[in-house]
Amino acid sequence: MPQTWMITGANRGIGLAITTQLLRRGDHVIAAARDPQAKALAELASAHAGQLTPLALDVTSDASVAAAKHALAGRAIDVLLNNAGLYGPRDRQSGLDVDFDAWREVFEVNVYAPVRVAQAFLSNLEAGQGRKIATISSRMGSIGANPGNALIYRSSKAAVNMAMVVFGNAVRAKNVAVLLFHPGWVQTDMGGGGADVTPAESAAGLIRTIDASGMAETNSFRDYTGETIAW
Ligand SMILES: NC(=O)c1ccc[n+]([C@@H]2O[C@H](COP(=O)([O-])OP(=O)(O)OC[C@H]3O[C@@H](n4cnc5c(N)ncnc54)[C@H](OP(=O)(O)O)[C@@H]3O)[C@@H](O)[C@H]2O)c1
Repeated sequence: MPQTWMITGANRGIGLAITTQLLRRGDHVIAAARDPQAKALAELASAHAGQLTPLALDVTSDASVAAAKHALAGRAIDVLLNNAGLYGPRDRQSGLDVDFDAWREVFEVNVYAPVRVAQAFLSNLEAGQGRKIATISSRMGSIGANPGNALIYRSSKAAVNMAMVVFGNAVRAKNVAVLLFHPGWVQTDMGGGGADVTPAESAAGLIRTIDASGMAETNSFRDYTGETIAW
């Protein structure tokens, strides 16, 4: 039975790799992006006719989320994947010097948006069979990993872990599983060419692990292979 996944930031990087693999196996993907008509998604839509729904979505905008919610009214979603993310500036992220405007911008995308999107599409998930909300966090948000740099990015991923656990507890009675993942260090615009995992490897692992997850895994923080990560 094909599933319907909604993926934010589906136009490039890990989101695009997951979208590609889901379409290949016959699932439906609601590909949410700021530019959902961009070349990569347009090519996938024509290669997999009827399986891809392009959805305009700026996850930081209440108006954009409201419009997307309206566009999807009554449509069942099995898995919502909060993937869109921002690293912030490569400098001015230290304990001694922080770009506060950039910090606010990163929190908009990495922390507030996953909650905003999860709240907005909860009724679509309740109408589906899968009932899973997965958020791409990062190992860099693990306080147990003894962090030393990247104050903006690390604090945003630590914060989204806490926010989604609170959300997960709020939706436990609705049987919606809330999952947090580190995707590996992945060769994308964010991860850079020196990263050790390809987008396809990360996507395959995430799909396999999300497929195998349910309420028993709600509020877990794991990597793309399913290994638990310290908070
Ligand atoms: N790559 C890694 O090594 C790594 C490691 C750990 C965690 N992660 C996490 O994995 C996720 C995906 O990362 P990636 O490596 O694929 O990054 P990427 O290649 O830089 O792609 C980021 C995606 O997020 C989207 N996005 C950013 N701001 C947005 C907004 N306001 N509204 C909608 N979409 C927005 C981008 O869309 P536009 O094209 O419109 O900008 C793009 O699709 C992120 O949450 C990231 O933090 C990545």
